[in-house]
Amino acid sequence: MPKVEIFPSILACDMAHLADECRRSVTAGSDGLHLDIMDGIFVPNISMGFDIIRVVDQIVKIPLSVHLMIIKPGPYVEKCVELGADTVLIHIESEGDIKGALRKIHAKGARAGITINPETPASSIDGVLDEIDEILIMSVHPGFGGQSFIADVLDKVKTLRRKLPEMDISIDGGIDTQTAGRSAACGANIFLAGSSLYRAKDMAAEISAMRANAQKMYNTGLNS
Ligand code: DX5
Ligand code: ZN
Repeated sequence: MPKVEIFPSILACDMAHLADECRRSVTAGSDGLHLDIMDGIFVPNISMGFDIIRVVDQIVKIPLSVHLMIIKPGPYVEKCVELGADTVLIHIESEGDIKGALRKIHAKGARAGITINPETPASSIDGVLDEIDEILIMSVHPGFGGQSFIADVLDKVKTLRRKLPEMDISIDGGIDTQTAGRSAACGANIFLAGSSLYRAKDMAAEISAMRANAQKMYNTGLNS
């Protein structure tokens, strides 16, 4: 059974104290950290560049999931792994040889993931299912933290979980304890959360509440 995991998204952390924020996330019980890289073309924003992977990898030793919101990920995926990414997530809506990019990630020894925007159907990834370890369902339009959860994407989570019982299915955007539970009931098992965790008064309490609710709801979903 896929394991329930919580990855704080450092887009929402206090960048003036990046090292402390990364260490605080580990102490609070994170399973890994999520890093958002944007190009200002695939999404209307630019967040961090590739060097953030190396920097965070030097600070903490937990798995790093790198989310590439860039128009042509192919030429950059190997670099991400070399810099310290454990999982590289590219978008099905991006350009170039998607399957080839996923193969390159695997060839470098990292986990490969495909990401689906809110309006993109689950069937869009049929052709790459044998190349991936993780499916990331976007529950906001990518580009910015702090947006509201789009519940319509839960149907896709359900469809994909029914079809792929062993696949890691992650969800990103507007995730808090409540929306993590709703997503888990539909079959999501990895929760990427920025604002709700970094702005919480007590990050450790927030992570354990999110984990407990997600695990409970995931089990409920299995039995329904
Ligand atoms: C959005 C990013 C998310 C973002 C989530 O494009 O992919 O990882 O950090 O932020 P919250 O949890 O605040 O919605
Ligand atoms: Zn992300």
